[in-house]
Amino acid sequence: MTRATRRSKKRRKVVKRKLNKCRPNKELEGVISPKVNKYWLQRYSLFSRYDEGIQLDEEGWFSVTPEEIAVRHAQRSVAGGVVVDCFAGMAGNSIQFAALGYHVVAIDIDPKKVEMASNNTKIYGVDSYIDFIVGDFLQLAPSLKGNVAFLSPPWGGPSYKMAENFTLDLLKPVDGHALFQVAQAITPNIIMFLPRNVDVCQVEELSWLSSPPLNVEIEENYVRGFLKGKTAYFGKTAYWGVAHETSSAYIRQV
Ligand SMILES: C[S@@+](CC[C@H](N)C(=O)[O-])C[C@H]1O[C@@H](n2cnc3c(N)ncnc32)[C@H](O)[C@@H]1O
Repeated sequence: MTRATRRSKKRRKVVKRKLNKCRPNKELEGVISPKVNKYWLQRYSLFSRYDEGIQLDEEGWFSVTPEEIAVRHAQRSVAGGVVVDCFAGMAGNSIQFAALGYHVVAIDIDPKKVEMASNNTKIYGVDSYIDFIVGDFLQLAPSLKGNVAFLSPPWGGPSYKMAENFTLDLLKPVDGHALFQVAQAITPNIIMFLPRNVDVCQVEELSWLSSPPLNVEIEENYVRGFLKGKTAYFGKTAYWGVAHETSSAYIRQV
């Protein structure tokens, strides 16, 4: 065997080893669809305790809030006490609210997701702080009260990235204005987790849906240098929470 052949054989082996590292292990083949593979590679940034039995369905894989951002959201829920997680999904956010000692009312319309979310909260040992409700947030909201309403509504799947300017009417299950109005029945202290390409002017305008207008602050959320989303804080959750004054800021969280 020539030196060149030996070198190219060695190079092929290294590439193969690297590729295997990026592939789901054998027992996950058939469970992890090709669509989800990209997110599976980021599993520990979604749930640091992923290996302990975290469960996610396909929508959950691409819609769960990365753990680092969920921790940030929880730290900013200063009006705390009871946090209503209006679109709880896989409990990425609920877990972190509960970990800080807040009582969480976690709502999701999909019973299978609630089952998985409940499993995930047990892994983090915070299940006793969380009450799950299977139901439509829009219908439940008028009967709920809380200190903070956390909104992490569906962004319409991974195709949200295609919009140059993500306007609030693209949010699901209803447009952002309607959603914000509904959430205000619970509390004016609202946190909204939104796509990175969201129309920031429209988000700021939401504060005018309340009289007097709510304080608002918007920040960018990065994970390992990648912009993953933007978070809008309203009412007492905004840093500049001065009554009867509206202030807005655009914070870069690095
Ligand atoms: C973006 S995901 C939430 C992700 C969540 N923050 C997490 O970290 O796991 C949105 C969730 O909203 C749920 N959903 C959609 N429409 C709903 C509705 N009308 N009421 C309650 N939940 C709804 C979906 O089932 C989905 O799980």
